Amino acid sequence: MTLLRVDPLHPEAPHIARAAAVLRAGGLVAFPTETVYGLGANALDAAAVGRIFAAKGRPAYNPLIVHVAAAEAARELVREWPEAAGLLAARFWPGPLTLVLPRRPMVPDVVTAGLDTVAVRVPRHPVALALLRAASLPVAAPSANRYTRVSPTTAEHVRQGLGDHIDLILDAGPAPVGIESTVLDLSRGQPRLLRPGTIPVTAIEAVVGPLAAAGEERQHEEAPRPSPGMVRQHYSPRAELRMFDLTRRREMVNLARAARDAGRSVGALLLREMDAPVDHPVWMPQDPDRYAARLYAALHELDAAGCDLVLADAPPEGPEWAGLLDRLTRAARG
Ligand code: TXA
Ligand code: MG
Repeated sequence: MTLLRVDPLHPEAPHIARAAAVLRAGGLVAFPTETVYGLGANALDAAAVGRIFAAKGRPAYNPLIVHVAAAEAARELVREWPEAAGLLAARFWPGPLTLVLPRRPMVPDVVTAGLDTVAVRVPRHPVALALLRAASLPVAAPSANRYTRVSPTTAEHVRQGLGDHIDLILDAGPAPVGIESTVLDLSRGQPRLLRPGTIPVTAIEAVVGPLAAAGEERQHEEAPRPSPGMVRQHYSPRAELRMFDLTRRREMVNLARAARDAGRSVGALLLREMDAPVDHPVWMPQDPDRYAARLYAALHELDAAGCDLVLADAPPEGPEWAGLLDRLTRAARG
């Protein structure tokens, strides 16, 4: 495995060319996007994409996002390009929005988990864009972590989790957004939110009108799931994570005390003062964008510190916190 440091704003052309060559040869490249680091392979090469699933230990029923450098390249992968897609691409691309659309046959089954749709996104990180342009390929890339683990926001997280399985890592420092993209299904009429991110739903609805209710549609047992990112217990730290809103403060404090009395190492993701002994308190930003940029690094730090239990203040209500509430809820077990 090779690790290349690149300038996040003006990536060095020789490093990008080297990474692009690895992709064209069917290899795996971990690269920064604005959301989290991705584990990329040539999306049109089924064998290369297969190596992503092997490296992550990811089940084959979980489809991948295909990254492209521009909306025109996304359109080549899909059969339909509804008006909503054009409006959303114009407003949010490049950026942390993924659109699910009916796929063309050129997209291999292994990318889409056999679904008739493909998820596409134009990332806005300069290194990701430079790599996509240099490779001149659509790049399938999930977050560069072992399946069910916390997504990486630094190259070091990637190296620790997957280092042995990757040909090359481009290290451009921390991913600025910090949680995964918003995923929107445009393949079944009215747009439907599959995974919240940092773009508030209200901002999306301002462009395309009301989203379909996020119904828990009954799925046929054998059918691929509509968005396996919605599986419970995704994005988990090693430690047990428990989330408490303000009305349950006393319970949170009591749990911290009891856990420490039992010899457990206790961490916390705090938005408010807490009058309890905690081994590893992490003060989280009050601003949702800054909170998102910090969250996964904080979870990695608490794991590295050996925490057995992490107590988290529930985020405030409001559309700009929805993606964070979603990730904390998934990280909390049970
Ligand atoms: O920000 C991100 O989206 C990052 C960076 C690397 O781009 N990628 C990422 O990929 O989070 P991953 O594989 O960890 O999550 C992809 C999500 C999953 O929830 C998956 O189920 C959903 O997108 N997805 C992919 N293709 C889909 C499809 N055809 N239909 C429905 N959901 C799909
Ligand atoms: Mg992931």
